[in-house]
Amino acid sequence: MDFKTERLYIRPVSISDKESIFAYRSDPETYKYLSLIPKTVDEVEDFIKKSSSLLNVPGSWFQFVIIEQLHNKVIGDIGIHFLDTSPENKQVEIGYTLDRNYRGKGYATEALTVVVNYLITGLNKHRITASIDPTNKSSIQLIERLGFRKEAHFIESLYFHGMWVDDLIYAILAKEWRKK
Ligand SMILES: CC(C)(COP(=O)(O)OP(=O)(O)OC[C@H]1O[C@@H](n2cnc3c(N)ncnc32)[C@H](O)[C@@H]1OP(=O)(O)O)[C@@H](O)C(=O)NCCC(=O)NCCS
Repeated sequence: MDFKTERLYIRPVSISDKESIFAYRSDPETYKYLSLIPKTVDEVEDFIKKSSSLLNVPGSWFQFVIIEQLHNKVIGDIGIHFLDTSPENKQVEIGYTLDRNYRGKGYATEALTVVVNYLITGLNKHRITASIDPTNKSSIQLIERLGFRKEAHFIESLYFHGMWVDDLIYAILAKEWRKK
């Protein structure tokens, strides 16, 4: 599944994206809130290989890349976690990362708008969630811009990069997205 927006292409990740992804994901400011801390391009290759090659497999993560049309450059990625392992498979979690040189232009908003829309209207998902550190202001602003609501603030519920941290859960229902 590929998408084209005004300024971007969004397509499934491929092994050939490993250097481009390493370039922005190895930046400490970028991985601060992410599980993956790649020290080598090979670690990014493993990460890509571990992603599902098929969309919509219960229990799996699927990875898209975001490409800026202007320079035909990979500038970020979007992960989709098909959370619901029941046969209904109606709930997904999203994750997202942008190269720091391409922030502040609305690219993440533009990319996530089409992906979330596809999850709801194309794959018929019921609920989409995001897990965000309360200190990650850009991510909170982005998810609220997309219309997600804060549902929970868990206290020190995640052991992350060697310490216990809080976790915000944001969500949107299909009916809320359709009303927007
Ligand atoms: C989270 C993250 C993707 C947000 O990136 P972002 O650039 O702030 O989000 P967008 O690309 O949607 O850009 C929005 C900004 O561009 C501005 N903007 C400019 N042109 C715009 C346009 N045409 N449309 C929308 N916004 C536009 C907005 O005003 C906003 O600026 P502000 O933050 O100063 O209010 C980015 O900070 C990131 O990759 N962080 C590291 C990884 C991470 O933490 N991921 C999330 C884990 S939960």
